[in-house]
Amino acid sequence: MSDKSMDQTQPRVISISSGKGGVGKTFTSVHLAAHAARSGQRVLLIDADLGLANVDIMLGLNASGTMRNLLTGDATLNDLIMPCAQGFDVLPGGSGLYELTSLNVSEQQTILDSLREAGHRYDLILIDTAAGIGENVLYFASAAETALVVLTPDPTSLTDAYALIKVLSRQRDVHRFMILINQTDEIDGHITFKRLLSVTDRYLDVYLDYIGYVPQHPVVRKAIQHQRLLDDSDPNVYPHLEKLFDKLLQRPRNVSRSGGLQFFWEHSLAAGLDSEPDLESDTESDSVSDHQDKTPMHEATK
Ligand SMILES: Nc1ncnc2c1ncn2[C@@H]1O[C@H](COP(=O)(O)OP(=O)(O)OP(=O)(O)O)[C@@H](O)[C@H]1O
Ligand SMILES: [Mg+2]
Repeated sequence: MSDKSMDQTQPRVISISSGKGGVGKTFTSVHLAAHAARSGQRVLLIDADLGLANVDIMLGLNASGTMRNLLTGDATLNDLIMPCAQGFDVLPGGSGLYELTSLNVSEQQTILDSLREAGHRYDLILIDTAAGIGENVLYFASAAETALVVLTPDPTSLTDAYALIKVLSRQRDVHRFMILINQTDEIDGHITFKRLLSVTDRYLDVYLDYIGYVPQHPVVRKAIQHQRLLDDSDPNVYPHLEKLFDKLLQRPRNVSRSGGLQFFWEHSLAAGLDSEPDLESDTESDSVSDHQDKTPMHEATK
């Protein structure tokens, strides 16, 4: 199959990750899903944080089952997928499923088998991952066609985003990233991106694509508290999101990784088998603030 034909038949798969937690991954994921759905795309949003799921909570959904049901064979993907009022489907995660915070290869295989079957019904699959550099994050982010990294100008968020990009590039062969800076303004967003770029350019073999910034505004917290999406009449944040998501979705697909779920399947299994044991310590913690090798990033956060 040529890359072109795969583009047309395979859904685009985008992972949304961050080094540090609480930076706005789920907020970004649900609004990106709603935006794409409004423009006519068939969207599946997967909550891949299997320890502290929160997509269903942010959307006020009452999940009927969890990924555990899928892995134990008690439910099919179709039983678990929930349509939401905003016009897209959600595969809920599973809060408190600590045993699933590091899926083994056979569990990964079960999930991918199901996704491959269901995936053909969608144009776009978004994967909202947990924070940090845990095994599941590396697995989902490296298997997606596009890895979107969310960070804020906060120095620990910047350091942790660098650590995530470093581990994904060195350990999982991911070399292109989209970058979104949340809770900032145009100037600080730009400065933050330049800081990140100055160290990745110097120390890593990666290409960073700055998608843009999202302002910090109390309207976001308020919407989340009420388990609602931002109102499209909101003049503070909503227009920024629209512009940013249009830009993101108009980016050409990543040809070298454009096999969609087929690619997802093959690459993730290969990555699971090939992971480098000498970097295993990188994958242990959920937060990477205490990451050992952050010397270069200190240069950028001075
Ligand atoms: N642009 C913003 N302006 C104001 N507050 C924001 C903004 N984005 C996110 N927040 C706040 O940050 C909180 C965390 O957002 P969100 O749950 O999307 O982060 P996350 O990265 O998914 O977190 P986790 O790592 O726990 O999954 C929100 O509840 C909201 O209060
Ligand atoms: Mg989240």
